[in-house]
Amino acid sequence: MDFQFSWPLYDHTEEAALLRVLNRRKWFNGEETKAFETAYAQFQGADFGAACTSGTTALEIALEALAIGPGDEVIVPPYTFVATATAVLRVGATPIFADVDATWCLDPASVEAAITPRTRAIMPVHFGGAMGNIEALDALARSNGLALIEDACHAWGSAWKGKGAGTIGCCGAFSFQESKNLTAGEGGILVSNDGALMERCQSIINCGREAGAPWYHHINLGTNARITEFGAALLQAQLVRLPAQLAQRAANAALLDAGLAGVPGVTPQPNIPEMTRRSYHLYCFRLDSTKFGMDRATFLAQCEARGLPLMAGYPLPLYQQPLFQKFLDRFDYRTCACPETEAICFREGVWITQPVLLLSPEHMQAIIDGIKEIQAGA
Ligand SMILES: Cc1ncc(COP(=O)(O)O)c(C=O)c1O
Repeated sequence: MDFQFSWPLYDHTEEAALLRVLNRRKWFNGEETKAFETAYAQFQGADFGAACTSGTTALEIALEALAIGPGDEVIVPPYTFVATATAVLRVGATPIFADVDATWCLDPASVEAAITPRTRAIMPVHFGGAMGNIEALDALARSNGLALIEDACHAWGSAWKGKGAGTIGCCGAFSFQESKNLTAGEGGILVSNDGALMERCQSIINCGREAGAPWYHHINLGTNARITEFGAALLQAQLVRLPAQLAQRAANAALLDAGLAGVPGVTPQPNIPEMTRRSYHLYCFRLDSTKFGMDRATFLAQCEARGLPLMAGYPLPLYQQPLFQKFLDRFDYRTCACPETEAICFREGVWITQPVLLLSPEHMQAIIDGIKEIQAGA
């Protein structure tokens, strides 16, 4: 079966949106940006949205707006894209790695053990769109007086007991880079219910200006992290198609869950019942080579030979990146050891990316059949 897919998707609505901006000759900081901020905040169930250039800058701006900096520690998972930790480093603070648990997201017990008098924030990653045990992390943050900053860069539409990702902590950051389920090629947004925090974020995004004040009036150390009107217009059009895509990916993920149940050694990333809606940026499972009968590299080679679109994902825990050698004066990252993350990276993790989850139920069945056949032949 052919697993070719097109991504990103667009039609005449995106073309019309781009032409609308072009012809209006207002290409930055205008009504498209405001309309998208309002629409996306509403989609996540947040009071406010502040659009910016990327998920990376959104995380950096959140940390700056919370005045987190040198001497401060922020607890992050090592099973994530580099930006979760580099945002912390770039504001001068120190990322401290806690392990993930069976959810592939931050383990509250590991986070608790990592809290020190210098800890200012916990930054959970909603990995693949799953929200881990966000309630326990929120409770931990509250009882220790810490900020909870949600790296929701995979979690457009995910919700915990009906509350949207990004609205449980003090704010949440989303990415609209091209691989993402909602995309303008590049882009990001912060959402929050905290109006004062979002005012500071908006100011940092817009060169430190004060809302409503004259253009040459700067009250904060800001930067230029404004999204373009083209990006904001494209995102409004993409947002209209997101709910149907979200439902289709979830339906296909349910087929994979059902079809893979009982395959020896295959454990899909679990769906916690409190997670009332789940965005699937990735469908993931762990492969126990002893029970499956072959190691992951052999399995993936056989998948590739059959044309099945499966991959190993992050090949190493973030703390093993050479980058961290440059910050040993802040923390000795050579001492980091997160066994769950290492098991997923080195031996067990398998990913199916989101565009594959927009293919037909027959494609999902072909993946299930292929995995079963490979296992039977092991
Ligand atoms: C978990 C996570 N956080 C942050 C980011 C950064 O987003 P961006 O690529 O828009 O800067 C990404 C992007 O891949 C991500 O996967």
